[in-house]
Amino acid sequence: LNLQPYHTFGLPQTACSLHLVSDLHQLQTLRAELKQRPYWLGEGANTIFVEPILRPIVKLTAQQVTIESRSASVCCHIEAGKDWHQLVAELTGQGIGGIENLALIPGTVGAAPIQNIGAYGVELADFCIYVDVFDWSTGEQRRLEADECQFSYRHSVFKTDAATNWLITAVGLELPKPWRPKLTYGGLEQLAKEQSLTPQQVMAQVIAVRQAKLPDPAQLGNAGSFFKNPTISNEQASRLLAHHPNMPHFTVSDGIKVPAAWLIDQLGWKGKAVGGAAVHDNQALVIINRGSAEVADVISLAWRIKQQVQQSYDIELVPEVRFLGANEELTLEQAYA
Ligand code: EPU
Repeated sequence: LNLQPYHTFGLPQTACSLHLVSDLHQLQTLRAELKQRPYWLGEGANTIFVEPILRPIVKLTAQQVTIESRSASVCCHIEAGKDWHQLVAELTGQGIGGIENLALIPGTVGAAPIQNIGAYGVELADFCIYVDVFDWSTGEQRRLEADECQFSYRHSVFKTDAATNWLITAVGLELPKPWRPKLTYGGLEQLAKEQSLTPQQVMAQVIAVRQAKLPDPAQLGNAGSFFKNPTISNEQASRLLAHHPNMPHFTVSDGIKVPAAWLIDQLGWKGKAVGGAAVHDNQALVIINRGSAEVADVISLAWRIKQQVQQSYDIELVPEVRFLGANEELTLEQAYA
């Protein structure tokens, strides 16, 4: 089985088997049949298959959306296979505000809680009230309330060992009324002046900002930001700012956050290539597949960037993209080795 169409990077790789599952009953049947615990896959918007995949792959296709309007909020129950952007567009189209800043993020609703998707000052955790999972080890369903999901920046319990056996089947969102647009991020501020602003106008602006900087995976394979934005200590930030007074930086609870894109850009990586993989011309944090990239090109480019940022700034870049090996998830170091 060729995995090229099953992830947004579009890299050549193979797998033994892929199972499309549309409901719980089919999932139970599959669980009885398969000997090995599978990998779960959404749209593969954050995934690189590093080696030929030996574990079975399961993709949930259920995508029903149930919307319930209450006095102080709108509650939505969304099945995991729903395309995230389609959900944003549908809610926004109905005048329901809340997640419009998260327009155009590739991937499924089921994948959204795993890395707690975020953009333009909003993240999934702001609205997520529960996540339903199917436990492969017991065959039972279970609901995790928001606090059990342990959401933080590009992280959640679903990235930890606790979640090894969990397949996300649905997500619950609560969007408060009245709608309060979030317009603090660069590119959205001017909308604050608008009279009777609608969620649709905000979504349109988010789409315009994204399209100006980020490559469309349908045209140029990529997985969005390749690394997370690192947080460094106040002392290290002061030292760096003494040399680089123009370095963008943001105070967060545990230190100073620095844009990885800026660090990579300063080192001159924009447009640089290894084989068919290259750093995007408009956003230094995005690695693209120019069409002919091999998995090794992407890994080797990412590795060199990580090494150089470490040497030049003494900052460790941690990938946001996830690397799947034949049987286990790998770190970038393991993928490179
Ligand atoms: N910058 C550069 N060079 C570049 C790009 C950006 O110096 O090539 C500087 C900019 O001047 C700016 C700063 O870096 O001061 C931040 O750039 P940007 O606003 O583009 O955001 P980012 O920090 O690179 C993050 C998310 C994106 C999200 C945007 C908007 C992470 C890892 N990435 O990117 O998320 O869309 O903010 O909120 O947090 C993703 O996760 O896949 C993703 C695309």
